[in-house]
Order: sequence, then C-alpha cells, then structure tokens
Amino acid sequence: MDISSILQGGYHHALPRTWQAKQQLTKSMLMYPIFVTDEADARVEIPSLPGQCRWGVNRLEAFLAALVKKGLQSVILFGVPVKSSKDARGTLADDPTGPVISAVKLLRALFPDLYIACDVCLCEYTDHGHCGYLNPDGTIDNTSSVARLAEVALNYAKAGAHCVAPSDMMDGRVKAIKRSLIEAGYGNGCTLMSYSAKFASAMYGPFRDAAGSAPSFGNRKCYQLPVGARGLARRAIVRDMGEGADIIMVKPSLPYLDIIADAAQLAADHPIACYQVSGEFAMIHAGAAAGVYDLKTMAFESVEGMVRAGATLIVTYFTPEFLEWL
Ligand code: PBG
Ligand code: ZN
Repeated sequence: MDISSILQGGYHHALPRTWQAKQQLTKSMLMYPIFVTDEADARVEIPSLPGQCRWGVNRLEAFLAALVKKGLQSVILFGVPVKSSKDARGTLADDPTGPVISAVKLLRALFPDLYIACDVCLCEYTDHGHCGYLNPDGTIDNTSSVARLAEVALNYAKAGAHCVAPSDMMDGRVKAIKRSLIEAGYGNGCTLMSYSAKFASAMYGPFRDAAGSAPSFGNRKCYQLPVGARGLARRAIVRDMGEGADIIMVKPSLPYLDIIADAAQLAADHPIACYQVSGEFAMIHAGAAAGVYDLKTMAFESVEGMVRAGATLIVTYFTPEFLEWL
C-alpha cells in the first residue's frame, strides 16, 4: 500500500484521537437555559423536555448551587409568567418584581462568578404570543416592537444581566438595543448576543410548552428565517455584526451546521454560539429511549459536531449532564 494511504497511525489511540479536533468541548463553552416562573416556590416538570423544570425564584439557589459546584459558568434566563395576566405590550417582560429581573438580582448576589444572560423577547409576555407588537391587522409593527425590545434589554442590563440576547428576529433590533445600552452607560458592561440566524423550525415545540409562548394565531414565518435560506442567514449575520452584536448565534443547531460554519467564517472575529434547541434535546432523548443509540454518546456526538462546525458557545439543556461527563 502507498505510504499516503495510511491514516490510522494518527488516531489508533484515545489520546491522539482527541488531537484530531481543532477545538475540544469544555465546560466554559456551555450555557444552560433556565425557565423562571412567577410562582416563587414552583418546581414544575416539563413533560416534553425530559428532566427540565420551571423554577420559582425561591428554588433557584438550591438547584443552581449544585451545578455551580460542578463547574456551571453561565445560564440564560427565560421568564414564564403563569399567574400574572399578559397584555399586548408584554408589560411583564421587565416587571421589576417579575421572574427575570428578580432572578438576575438574586443570582448576581448568590453566585458572583456566574455569567447571567437574559433572553430578550416578547412572546412569553404578550397575550397574543408573538415576538413583537402587532398592527390592528395582525401584522408585526417593526418600529414599536424594536423600541420595546430595546427598553426590555436595558432593564435587564440595569438589573445586572451580563448579557442580553434578543431572540425575536425583528429587523434592526440589535442596533436599537446596542444604542440604548450605550446611551444609558451599559455599552461596555453588557454583552449583546444576537440570535442572528434563527430559523422557523419545527423544533421549538417543547420550549413553547415550557414557556407558554406559542402564538395564539398564525406562525413566526414573517420574522424567523425560511429553512433553506442560507443566503438570508449569511446576510443576517453580517448585518448583526454591523449593528453591534458581540456574539453571533445560530439556532437550531444540528440541521444547521452549514450555517454555523458560515458564521464562523463570516464572523471570524466574534464568538459563535449555537442553540441546541428543545426539540433537538427531546429528539435525542426519544431516540435513546427507543434504543436507537446511547444517550451520552449521542449527546457528545451532536455537540462535538457543533464545535467542529465552529461553535465556541453551546446553549444546551444537556449542560447538567455535560458537567458530570466532562
Ligand atoms: C422565543 C424563543 C424561542 C426559543 C428561544 N427563544 C421559541 C420561539 O421562537 O418560538 C426556542 C428555544 C428552544 O426551543 O429550546 N423567541
Ligand atoms: Zn419570541
């Protein structure tokens, strides 16, 4: 055989196998999504999202202390109002006594080294369940939506969030949020992580169960990207960099590894995040439960694929497991 045909010499042993990856998965690359409700003592399991719960503010200390001890370094918070009534404006999003702002303040005090991101969107808080404000005809009013999102993001920063992460996909919101942070003096102390390439995926179902954020009519296709839209994703990534995003995110992850690779190339000087969304997590669990593969092996394969594509930050519900496994 030709000398050039022999590759296995380079990966016949466990250690050199790890050297074949340009980047190893580490605990610092994991961000854990947490659902916080307005029922302070709640711990409610989410049936479609195995092992995940909605947490009341009073439950967060015990729950997160154990994970911080294992090396948890960052979380992203989602507010889930269940007992307060929602309105068209999404007033609950930045209610000073609401779950997100209360949780940010509490976690900053309890865990000084924990990096706290807040998802910024209106769908969990509006009575219609859309991610922005609506015109009377049911279409999105972009201008007022973006102004409100910037206001919410600033209020999260004021409460102590290290990072604000707009997931709404309204045009121009990154610029509006960055401006409002800078004008209020938070520009240098708050990261803006943009969900830049967020696709209209079938895999958000368990999240919408968890967050109670399914739209009451229509769908999100006029703001989330079409599945095949690689070009639009690339344009959105470039746009958001230009508007001041500090981190570029792709979402979902596994069916969009080409977009992650595009982001890594287009935003070569930015951290690249990807969100292994609720449906991906549920799918991996379902496959494991059906005997298709081993859960741990598949969880690693999925996330290592994202790292190989160029992700440096992975938002995943597997974070507690990876803290054990790594
Ligand atoms: C809200 C939001 C969604 C997710 C994150 N932020 C759902 C949606 O757009 O409907 C999905 C996360 C997941 O599925 O885990 N804008
Ligand atoms: Zn939304």
